[in-house]
Amino acid sequence: MTLKNKKFVLCITGSIACYKSIELYRSLKKEGASVTIILSSSASKFISPYIFKSFGEEVYADDAFEIPLAHIELAKTADAIVVAPATYNTINKIACGIADSLITLTVSASGDKPCIIVPAMNNKMYSNEILQKNIEKLLAQKKYYFVNPAKGELACGDFGEGKFPETKDIVFEIESVFKSKKFKDKKILITAGATREYIDPVRFISNASSGKMGTALACEAIKLGAEVTLIACSIDIQNLYINKKIKLIKAISFNDLKENLINEFPKNDILIMAAAVSDFGVKEKSSLKIKKITGSSDNDTNIHLNLVQNDDLLKLIAKNKKHEQIVFGFAAETDNIIENAQNKLKEKSLDYIFVNDVTKNIIGSSENEGYLIKIMSEKDKENKNINDRDIIYEDNNHIYTNEEINKSSDIIINKTKNTGEKIIHTYKNHKNNNEGYNRYNNRWIEDSDNNLEIKRFERMDKTELAEALLNEL
Ligand code: CTP
Repeated sequence: MTLKNKKFVLCITGSIACYKSIELYRSLKKEGASVTIILSSSASKFISPYIFKSFGEEVYADDAFEIPLAHIELAKTADAIVVAPATYNTINKIACGIADSLITLTVSASGDKPCIIVPAMNNKMYSNEILQKNIEKLLAQKKYYFVNPAKGELACGDFGEGKFPETKDIVFEIESVFKSKKFKDKKILITAGATREYIDPVRFISNASSGKMGTALACEAIKLGAEVTLIACSIDIQNLYINKKIKLIKAISFNDLKENLINEFPKNDILIMAAAVSDFGVKEKSSLKIKKITGSSDNDTNIHLNLVQNDDLLKLIAKNKKHEQIVFGFAAETDNIIENAQNKLKEKSLDYIFVNDVTKNIIGSSENEGYLIKIMSEKDKENKNINDRDIIYEDNNHIYTNEEINKSSDIIINKTKNTGEKIIHTYKNHKNNNEGYNRYNNRWIEDSDNNLEIKRFERMDKTELAEALLNEL
């Protein structure tokens, strides 16, 4: 929850969309933020301050003189100022440095704290050159962020750009403000969902992947500054949030995915292959609906499907990748999960693989857990200083606990002296229950036998996991 414990001043100015700021307020609160409200005098003609007061909030009138120095105190204690909805008048005033109300005074006193502005007005007013020039002027400064208004039918009956955006889009932008821009100038291609292999016009073979992990990765990558293309395979896009900044390509079958992947991969720096791809396709799709067979015995009514194995897309793509491109795969396993994933990482020439134990009820869930495995980098190999690395010592069937290691540092030191190896961890004797890794959540552990590093991620929301995984790249 990026917004947990963040403090906002929510400035509501007089647009007919004022009532939508109540939903925005509630969403910020749900995210764990605290919100102080300033209601402009025209906004208070649309909505009453008692709405927020009855939620127990402090509500200020937009009066520069009611409480002396309120603007200084509000600006000082806030992490960010949100002006939503922001009228034509207020945006132009802020851009021209006019500070004649509590809202404009608070913005002017907020130093380098972020100010997120959400315009809402008639489309002609929004496209007015004066306003557009002033928006440009504000955007040229680091502290101002604009959430573009939506296009649609406006309150006055006109059609165009000027509608108050969806609350989810505003919260997304606010969250983005607090994120590092580690992927600035990077292009990331992500696949999500499940491919479908049609048997006839109405029936298909597929799997239960919902696309939640892939879409979460796409959204988080946008927040971290990347340009993102998402190939969505049969995803219920009405019910999953896909930010509008994501370039969305819809695919259904394995062949659709393959074609789009081959087309898009060369344009990207990173590929994250979260889609659950059909390993088998139907040899001959029937162009007509296959009818039920009427027969006297079971044998007469059996129907046989002829399946052919599809290419492994990751293998195909990774084989031809440029040196600087990163390929990140997922693995769904039910047993020997780390060992199987390690084999997939090597066979498919991946840089990273995240493995899910799919017996843990994660398919379709909003939560996930598993292990991230990566090839040990040269930097990691060079980093042989004993104090800089996590150390797990395992001997025969015993994994030493931290306390044991601390108590008898001889174990490590002797072994280090003898073998010249700093990290002595091997999971060999525990590969079935992954005890060694489970014990050390969120720490990279070397598997020097295989030249790999492994990190366990405990169960968490897919959005949180998406951010954690992207931060490892
Ligand atoms: N994948 C792929 N092409 C396929 C099948 C899978 O690119 N035909 C990708 C998936 O998107 C995933 C990774 O390979 O990133 C591993 O997929 P998974 O289903 O775990 O394994 P498979 O390679 O299909 O092997 P198996 O089903 O035998 O476990």
